Amino acid sequence: MLEAFRDAGVIVLRDFVSPDACAALRQRALDLVEAFDPATVRTVFTTTDQPQLDDDYFIESGDKIRFFLEDDAFDEHGELRQAKQHSLNKMGHAMHDLDPVFNAFSRTPELAEVARRIGYADPVILQSMYIFKPPGIGGEVMCHQDSTYLYTEPESCVGFWFALEDATLENGCMQFIPGGHRSPLKKRNYRRADGKLVTETLDDSPWPEERKVAAEAATGTLVVFEGRAPHLSAANHSARSRHAYTLHVIDRTCHYPADNWLQRGADLPLRGFE
Ligand code: FE2
Repeated sequence: MLEAFRDAGVIVLRDFVSPDACAALRQRALDLVEAFDPATVRTVFTTTDQPQLDDDYFIESGDKIRFFLEDDAFDEHGELRQAKQHSLNKMGHAMHDLDPVFNAFSRTPELAEVARRIGYADPVILQSMYIFKPPGIGGEVMCHQDSTYLYTEPESCVGFWFALEDATLENGCMQFIPGGHRSPLKKRNYRRADGKLVTETLDDSPWPEERKVAAEAATGTLVVFEGRAPHLSAANHSARSRHAYTLHVIDRTCHYPADNWLQRGADLPLRGFE
């Protein structure tokens, strides 16, 4: 399995998490959404353009639990088109350190063992995201590498993606370009500069998207992928949501640049899987 992971840059592990654990995390997310008032924020999240580059609500979310709406959440009168939980793009970025239910899901002996076996010396969970991919308006995510957002020297980012609901081509499952993790790093996304975020392009050659392979994933599946592994997902035009949870892990022994967008206060130190 390690050989397959090294070769493709991604591996799909079915039945890694129990359906009960997935259901408990979905319920906890919905409880947090229930307490969230969308009138307090109009931040939308999209990777097709970059409206949040000077948005403090986003920039300061590295050590908080914050909510980001879909591009198409509001109608022309400024009202939500759909129920609140079907208007959100994501929640992030420190539920794993701030919420007991997310903490318990994120820190298990099984995950610690996966991190150990893929070669981490001192893994720490840098961020968590709850991805809603709501029915009808769940937005497209263009092809990218996660290490362009979560850069360390040397690079050490690995993504852990959990299907909390069945993810299919119809509702916008993840898609990968196998072997694409051997490509160079294409960008440094969201570098902090004077209170804003700037993106630096290192290589603007196009991705060979014709080689993409869908990673359809039943509830409970874990997809582990290298920080340079190019991936994308289509919009969700179906009637079913596609909830997923992600953790991004880095190695504490690597240098974490002070101009990375995601920063934490000293009162919330990074922790591993224990
Ligand atoms: Fe990603």
